[in-house]
Amino acid sequence: MTVTRKRINSRPAAVLIGFMGAGKSTVGRLVAELLGVDFVDADEQIVHAEGRSIPEIFTADGVEAFRDIERRVVLDLLTRGGVVSLGGGAVMTPAVADALAGHRVVYLSIDPAEGFARAKGGDRPLLAGDDAETRYRELLDERHDTYAELATVTVDAGAGSADEIADLVVSALADHLIPERNLL
Ligand code: S3P
Repeated sequence: MTVTRKRINSRPAAVLIGFMGAGKSTVGRLVAELLGVDFVDADEQIVHAEGRSIPEIFTADGVEAFRDIERRVVLDLLTRGGVVSLGGGAVMTPAVADALAGHRVVYLSIDPAEGFARAKGGDRPLLAGDDAETRYRELLDERHDTYAELATVTVDAGAGSADEIADLVVSALADHLIPERNLL
């Protein structure tokens, strides 16, 4: 009988999810370095694939079109190796949430005041205009349970420097990495 085993490099070593300002890209890059694997940021892939910025996509085509592009890019990234960080809203697309089953998903949680302080002033379309902080808090509130439910591990992104958070992520993942390695 032939037993087909899923190799560890046939899917991401870890997928980072969480809200805007949690530091998914910064921490993801550091986690990838610690694990000695590639890092890929889904938003950067979207910009690369589309040849335009995220604000340009939102302005020209709207949020639903952005979610469609995002879904295609993320589903593709989930078939590859490395550490992957997802844009904050990706998991609200049901096909993305479903596709995360069986992956090592790290939720970088963030306190709303700290997250907003980090995220404000950038070019994120969902935080454009007046009353960005209220919108930030409402959206985080809406999404928190989804992040938490999809997570294999949750790490408080406010608990230290980016390097310290990356260390915490790698330790938290250790239990999930070792059994996989044994399958190789
Ligand atoms: C979004 C988060 C952004 C980006 C887009 C939409 C969201 O990514 O994908 O602006 O819906 O939360 P970051 O979480 O990396 O800022």
